[in-house]
Amino acid sequence: TDFEKKILCIGAGYVGGPTMAMIALKCPQYKVHVVDINPDRIDAWNSQELPIYEPGLEEVVFEARGRNLFFSTDIQEGIEEADIIFVSVNTPTKTFGEGAGMAADLQYWEKTARQILECSKSPKIIVEKSTVPVRTAQAMERILGTDGSGKFQVLSNPEFLAEGTAIEDLKCPDRVLIGSRLTEEGLKARDELVSIYANWVPKENIVTSDTWSSELSKLVANAFLAQRISSINAISALCEKTGADVSRVAYAVGKDGRIGDKFLKSSVGFGGSCFKKDILNLVYLCRSYGLQEVADYWEQVVKINEYQKERFVLNMLHTMFDTLAGKRICLLGFAFKADTGDTRETPGIYIAQRLAEEHCRVVVSDPQALDNAKIDLKDLGDAVSYVEDPYEAAADCDALAVLTEWNLYKELDYTKIYNSMTKPAFVFDGRNILDHQALHDIGFNVFPIGKPALTHYRMNGRTR
Ligand code: NAI
Repeated sequence: TDFEKKILCIGAGYVGGPTMAMIALKCPQYKVHVVDINPDRIDAWNSQELPIYEPGLEEVVFEARGRNLFFSTDIQEGIEEADIIFVSVNTPTKTFGEGAGMAADLQYWEKTARQILECSKSPKIIVEKSTVPVRTAQAMERILGTDGSGKFQVLSNPEFLAEGTAIEDLKCPDRVLIGSRLTEEGLKARDELVSIYANWVPKENIVTSDTWSSELSKLVANAFLAQRISSINAISALCEKTGADVSRVAYAVGKDGRIGDKFLKSSVGFGGSCFKKDILNLVYLCRSYGLQEVADYWEQVVKINEYQKERFVLNMLHTMFDTLAGKRICLLGFAFKADTGDTRETPGIYIAQRLAEEHCRVVVSDPQALDNAKIDLKDLGDAVSYVEDPYEAAADCDALAVLTEWNLYKELDYTKIYNSMTKPAFVFDGRNILDHQALHDIGFNVFPIGKPALTHYRMNGRTR
């Protein structure tokens, strides 16, 4: 059949898969082809069991797949026939050499650029979907041997979806951002991409800009989001010392329209593959431009997050009589947030490692993330066990630590759980999602984040 446009996406991950599935769903007149070097991932995209869990994703994929949405490993053929190529490969933090632990590792990115150059016989629009350092489009152009005129146009189109709500975010995005060169050719390419999104996104939500502003906006958006979490988490530490309640503080502060009430929930810390990586990338960029103060300012967002995770562990240790050796702690949730199975950079990894260091036995429970948890924690051996059923997981434990805000944890029978646990029984609610008073009434000693503890014994001094 004749498709109006042929779209290719290189990289079938958390971003490439859902974004292309949405384009295919909304634009049956286009052929959408998603390729990856990882054959297992492609097989999974072609199966009944998709490689990632996202609410609503299956419905979208199952409707479009085979109609105008295709997954394969045939990258060369994909490039040859495409008019528009989205690049959505991973851009992790560099683990070696200059900038190790900070800078973005662009090796997958560069390989893709070279492959596009090698296989292209006709003009193409290349769209940066991955999150990249500002001015990466220029590197892409240099590899492609273009100066912004001729065969290739490079656009920036960062993705703002959040895992767990990816399908909703893609259906009704707050904005779609498209950056281009402001030349005639650049604007023409930009309009091509605008016309794809215009199939379902209202025009006023499609924001256009120059390439560098677009690339930088993605890093800045993630830095601001993470900064809000670190800001409220920093205050949670002060609340615990003073007897204030962080939820009440957040509510009162968030009522100010200039501040707003979203993304002000205190927790054990943020995770996910993006926040830390993108902030460090921003910090590295600032340092490399000699902007020391700016770099230090943003780096503090990551430091507070590390501090929050460590605080959570130390609070468990000190509360449970300064020894965790031989105790059992049940982690309720391991995914970095609810409604995803993704565990990249999840606080659970750090917490499980620290608890194992204290010779504690860790029982990990999660409705979606246990397969990933087993990979993340394999070095901890049999210090960790994995039990999906939360009742079974909690049995014989000394403490529960809520790490992920899964709804199901709000609805458990905590009397039943309490009766199966070692006494005194503790709850450390790293997400503040449980009914703390009810738990206390059952008999638990309850330690929320940034709120007074509810215990059945007198605590030394005023607070924790
Ligand atoms: P991912 O790791 O899930 O997916 C990347 C895929 O690219 C992998 O399946 C990998 O096999 C494939 N790949 C790598 N090199 C390739 C090559 N040369 N040819 C073909 N395929 C190749 O990563 P994810 O989470 O989808 O992220 C992709 C990009 O999107 C990153 O830059 C990330 O920062 C950004 N992003 C991620 C968001 C998220 O929520 N995960 C949200 C917004 C942006």
